[in-house]
Parts: sequence; structure tokens; C-alpha cells
Amino acid sequence: MDILKDITAAVDRLKPLSPGALQLLSMVSGGEYGIQDVAHVVERDPALTANVLRVVNAPAFGLGVPVNSVARAVGYLGDRMVAGIALATSSPRVFNVTLAGYESGPGELWRHCLRTAIAARYMAVSGTNGVNANLAFTAGILHDIGKAVLSDYLVGRTPELLALIEARAAESFQEAERAVLGVDHCQVGHALALKWNLPEPIPQAVLLHHQPAKADPEWRELVFSVHLGDMVSMMGGTGTGVDTLMYPLDEGYVEVFDFAEEQLDQILLDVTMEFEKLRTPFWD
Ligand SMILES: [Fe+2]
Ligand SMILES: [Fe+2]
Repeated sequence: MDILKDITAAVDRLKPLSPGALQLLSMVSGGEYGIQDVAHVVERDPALTANVLRVVNAPAFGLGVPVNSVARAVGYLGDRMVAGIALATSSPRVFNVTLAGYESGPGELWRHCLRTAIAARYMAVSGTNGVNANLAFTAGILHDIGKAVLSDYLVGRTPELLALIEARAAESFQEAERAVLGVDHCQVGHALALKWNLPEPIPQAVLLHHQPAKADPEWRELVFSVHLGDMVSMMGGTGTGVDTLMYPLDEGYVEVFDFAEEQLDQILLDVTMEFEKLRTPFWD
């Protein structure tokens, strides 16, 4: 079978996010919601409730007291974090896969996406126009979902990709993916986002997170937030394996963001601290 047809079939096979998870996504993306709203959605979905309680009671969280209700979990961890846990644990086929083609282990994609999301949120609030911070977080969580599908098709072929980059026949890992497979992880992620009916600008952010200048003017600042968040995540040591830092930084960010150098240092520090707090392995 033609490899592109094969990849399209794999996109179709991937189980969609549960209705509860989708509701959470649109809620945290929309901005207008309260702590109670997150708790209510999670409570109505028994699988989400079980996952959230299992994670918050894990010794790694170190809360020291048993947490037996979603409302209390939200009180301890915050609504956004509970939504993140619910999302990640409800879609282990997406976030907890071993990306063999990228030579990265289980949980690495989730850690990369979580750190990207945290960083994208910081970037969003630092932009000149101000982007919805929750939207940036959600787009950050989802930006690399295409890798969950594409990884299988890269197994054994990474030396080919790296040789293309080495010979400057490809400027990025994304271009090398396209040269070897005919499609890249951004295009596959975009197809997934559309198939799951995720609202704009999420599909656009997934498609263009390595080429933010191509985004519609309306969403450019958001896509740049994810682009920079992705860079911060990789520079912080949470990449997804062999492709880490194999993507150019779009210098156009200086026109979108107005960072003083000290401000950037502070953002990197804040992102690292928040990430270390939240990086509990959800599936252990
Ligand atoms: Fe990517
Ligand atoms: Fe990424």
C-alpha cells in the first residue's frame, strides 16, 4: 500500500478524544470558565474522574492528604492542571506512546507537550497584543500529536533523514520527514485535529508550529507563542528524541514579542519551575 494512504488510514484508526476530554479542551481554550465548570465536566465522566484521582493521589504529587473528590483535586492543583491530567490520561494512545521512530521513550511526548504548553502560555501573555493564554496552553499540549501516528513510519529511516539535514538537502526535521515519507508530523497532526473537530485556531497552530510566519494574521501571535514554547521546551531538555532542536527558530518573533533579555531569562526560569512541579508521570 502507498505510504500516504497507509498514514491516512492510521489517522482514521486513532481513537478520538472522549466527549468529556473534548469538552474540557474547548472550555480551557475559550477562556470563559470557572473552577466549578472543570470539576463538573470531569465528574460527569467516570473514566476522567478515576484518572484524575489516581494521579493526584500518587506519592509523586506529595499532597500528603488523600484527595477523594474532583472538586478538592481542582482546589489543590488548579483547574488548568486538572484539565491537563484529564486530557492526557484520556488519550494515552496519543500521549503515552513510545515514539520509536523518533527514538524517544514512553511519556516523553507528554513531557515535551506539557512544557511547551506552559511556555506557550507565558509567551502568550508577553506578546504585544496579548493572546488568550488558555488557548496557547491547549495548542501547546496538542502541537505534536502528529508524531503519535508518524513515528511508526520513521522506524529505521532516521539515518536517512539525518543525512538529508547533514547534507543541507533539508533545512529541518520537518522537511526531511516530507522528503522521505511525503508528509510531515505537522500535516498529520493537522489532519488529526480536523478529524477530531477541534476548533480553529488549534488545527492551524498544529500545522504551522514550525512555520509561524505563515499563520493568518489573526492567529500569528498565538502560533508564534507555540513556536517559541516548543523551542523553550527543547532547550530545556524535554525534546522528543532524535529531532530535538532540528528545527530553525523563526527570528520574526522579535516583531511579535517585545522581550527584554531579563524578561526572557525570567520566563525560562518560571517555565522550568512550573514544569518540575507538574511533570509527575501520569501513567506510572
Ligand atoms: Fe513539531
Ligand atoms: Fe514540539
